[in-house]
Amino acid sequence: MSTLADDSPSSTSPSPSAPRGGPIASATGDPCVLVIFGASGDLTRRLLLPALYHLACDGLLSGKFAIVGMAMDDWTTEAFRQRMAAQVRQFTTRTPFDEQVWNDFVDRLHYVPGKFTDAAAFERLRTVVSGLDAKLGCGGNVLFYMATPPSVFGMVSNALHSAGFDRLGEGWKRVIVEKPFGHDLASAAALNREMLKFWREDQIYRIDHYLGKETVQNLMAFRFSNGMFEPLWNRNYVDHIQFTVDESVGVEARGSYYETSGVLRDMIQNHMFQMLAYLCMEPPVSFAADAVRNEKAKLLDAVRIMTPEQVRTNTVRGQYGPGRGTDGAPLAGYRQEPNVSPTSGTETFAAIKLNIDNWRWDGVPVYLRSGKRLWKRGTEIVVQFKRAPDVLFRNTEVDSIEHNRLIFHMQPDQGIELRFHAKVPGPALRLQNVNMHFAYGDAFKASRAIGYEVLVYNCMIGDATLFSRTDLVEGAWRIAQPLLDYWSSTPPTDFPNYEAGSWGPKAAFDMLEDDKRRWVEIINRDVMERVPLFAGSDPSFLNSLLMILEPDVFEPGDFIVREGDSADAMFFIARGAVEVIDASGERVKELGVGDFFGEIGMLSSKPRNASVRAITQTDVFLLKRTDFNKVLAQHPSFAESVERIARERYRAPEAS
Ligand code: BG6
Repeated sequence: MSTLADDSPSSTSPSPSAPRGGPIASATGDPCVLVIFGASGDLTRRLLLPALYHLACDGLLSGKFAIVGMAMDDWTTEAFRQRMAAQVRQFTTRTPFDEQVWNDFVDRLHYVPGKFTDAAAFERLRTVVSGLDAKLGCGGNVLFYMATPPSVFGMVSNALHSAGFDRLGEGWKRVIVEKPFGHDLASAAALNREMLKFWREDQIYRIDHYLGKETVQNLMAFRFSNGMFEPLWNRNYVDHIQFTVDESVGVEARGSYYETSGVLRDMIQNHMFQMLAYLCMEPPVSFAADAVRNEKAKLLDAVRIMTPEQVRTNTVRGQYGPGRGTDGAPLAGYRQEPNVSPTSGTETFAAIKLNIDNWRWDGVPVYLRSGKRLWKRGTEIVVQFKRAPDVLFRNTEVDSIEHNRLIFHMQPDQGIELRFHAKVPGPALRLQNVNMHFAYGDAFKASRAIGYEVLVYNCMIGDATLFSRTDLVEGAWRIAQPLLDYWSSTPPTDFPNYEAGSWGPKAAFDMLEDDKRRWVEIINRDVMERVPLFAGSDPSFLNSLLMILEPDVFEPGDFIVREGDSADAMFFIARGAVEVIDASGERVKELGVGDFFGEIGMLSSKPRNASVRAITQTDVFLLKRTDFNKVLAQHPSFAESVERIARERYRAPEAS
């Protein structure tokens, strides 16, 4: 099979305008014709066209530039322009809409209807593309964007070849491909082979939209431009690392796709492994595309491939059942979503413990979790450092030393936070967890981007740093494959195992507890304000609580507190319901969202006088005894409210 490879020197190395070894530039992209296959689809209207319009707004498109859309819909160029005018207005993240930029941009849009099996349509496409190339002077540069399922990749490439696109004159030819890059290791390898039949590796730009996110790109900038952190970035100082990608949305209208995917394929194998590689790889020798990608590939290669037994103990799967959103509105369970089997075994949540077998990370576990229909949307990375020794504090009021934590807030909040101890003002030596917080929005005034801008732009300048490569794709599948194998051979018996809108399955919390660790749940003030006891509290009080409250999850029937046990924490119900049961086994009361319990035992230092059992899945914030005492001492008005409520409750004996 002949290839679509071109002879241009710019196709084997960054183009003359490309900033060698660095993705950021203020020069415009190379002149080119951009051909979009699947131009009538969702991706084009929601992400791609708005991103291209943003590039136009920022002056980053060459004056010698045109877009040709191709799809089955029988549209004219005029109809395509009109549709895109409406869609880009709807999906742009920039306001106000720049009519002047748009008027110039819209004239660059063209459309060729046709099926991917129709040779005549590709002939027409070639005529349009070569006409625009000659008219605008694009030098034969053509960028093909496959906004289509990968299954048609071979067909489209073949049709391009037959239509003579590889003889379209000098200039580079590049192709952007969208995920999924295979369904498992074998299919990914087959897809890679097919791509390489038509294109050279340096012509293929595989998109992972997470790499277009500013905060993801900042991981590298942060690590390698700040001298103070890199010396600590290893097994001598780091206790463990956590990656969390929580989504509050369900599978939306994508049930039939998701049934064949699940969260491991949809989020973890691609987006999360890419972030993992950035966070943990060795410093590259430069920011040139292959220097960076070589280090990422080495890191993925070092991730331990799990045995079936390790998959059993080091992973948790989940699927959401019916539940309620934060506004109380009912939410369907996954099995009730359109185009989903009522007995589906597809996982919508997973938590995984990985080990990296290299010099830097030996013995440092990496925990990843992601899921749909969780209590909030939030992507965070936590680097937890080893604790300082507490010998010095033996005879002080300090009873525990916490871990220092560096937290990357990727989205929706964008920033970096460092949590450490400070002395509480006053004569005694007491410590409190405090934080330093850098928020992107405070430091930079950047227009909101979709993420595709930087990716398409980088492809136009021939910089492949932010794109995946054959070995990276296969390396990531190699890690995921044992999980896919074990999970498919042992169908889940407990699905659904978390409620829509909750914090996820209890087993994910247990997995870390077994390692004497816990997920660092990033709680924001809005969540705290929903607990009536905290509503309207002083911001500094809420801020300190945010860092000390610990999340925990209980399943229906679990005892949270048992009568006669010593009291070591009080609890705030974030969602769910519990029953309070007295010594004779009678249900005394039910408590729900916003209620708290467990304070009486803490205030009286007596054993629990009642039991508390979860009625539904119950997510709680836990305030441990040591922190409880600190909070009471430092915030008299809070202490007063808790004591007053406890006195009232004690008169009418009930909880703990
Ligand atoms: C996509 C997945 O790749 O990423 C979706 O297919 C997921 O299921 C989305 O919702 C998440 O992207 P973001 O940018 O919203 O975090």
